[in-house]
Amino acid sequence: MTIVTILVGSPRKSGSTRILAGEAERGLKEQGIAVETVFLNDLKIKGCQACYYCKKNDVAACAVKDDMQQVHQLMQESDGLMVASPIYFAGVTAQTKLWQDRMFPYISMNLAPKLPPTKKVSFIFTQNQPDVHLFETPIRTFMHMVGLTGLTVKDYLIAYDLDAGVKTPVTENKVFMDKAYEMGRDLLR
Ligand SMILES: Cc1cc2nc3c(=O)[nH]c(=O)nc-3n(C[C@H](O)[C@H](O)[C@H](O)COP(=O)(O)O)c2cc1C
Repeated sequence: MTIVTILVGSPRKSGSTRILAGEAERGLKEQGIAVETVFLNDLKIKGCQACYYCKKNDVAACAVKDDMQQVHQLMQESDGLMVASPIYFAGVTAQTKLWQDRMFPYISMNLAPKLPPTKKVSFIFTQNQPDVHLFETPIRTFMHMVGLTGLTVKDYLIAYDLDAGVKTPVTENKVFMDKAYEMGRDLLR
């Protein structure tokens, strides 16, 4: 069975990020792809402890036994990944950053990637600021660093001018909703 994991890095389960991730999920499921959605905020994930277990043993496995183990399992089993995070203080949320740091086992000491390029990843970012370019540099850096694991970066969406409950709901922005849906539909194409 073809599986895609969606990681939601927002603590708000009905926020804009989750809504757009839901559109991507709809696009994936319409392709007959099974979807596993993980709310990172629900998991107990420690930061990388820099023990270098993965490097010393040259393994794509982590010595820290916490909820990240189930995410690692999903990384191995999934054919693709969607990462959805709000922008907090010009970067991804702390929940998303914890996940990223714990992807260290997939990058060898010589920077060789350990995940196969057949696994694709697309990203959804949401931000309050109306200037879509404002956080482009940290966003591009984040995506590049995730790509060091071997995942092939397929596409991304920066959905801007959003603040759930305060500004116009993301559901009324057809461009963002359609793009999120299409990113799900096309992730593994
Ligand atoms: C702690 C915190 C920091 C934030 N920092 C930024 C920021 O630096 N730039 C920005 O455009 N929006 C920022 N925002 C706004 C969120 O990125 C935006 O509202 C986002 O759509 C929230 O996603 P959600 O609805 O899924 O929770 C911040 C929000 C919070 C709670």
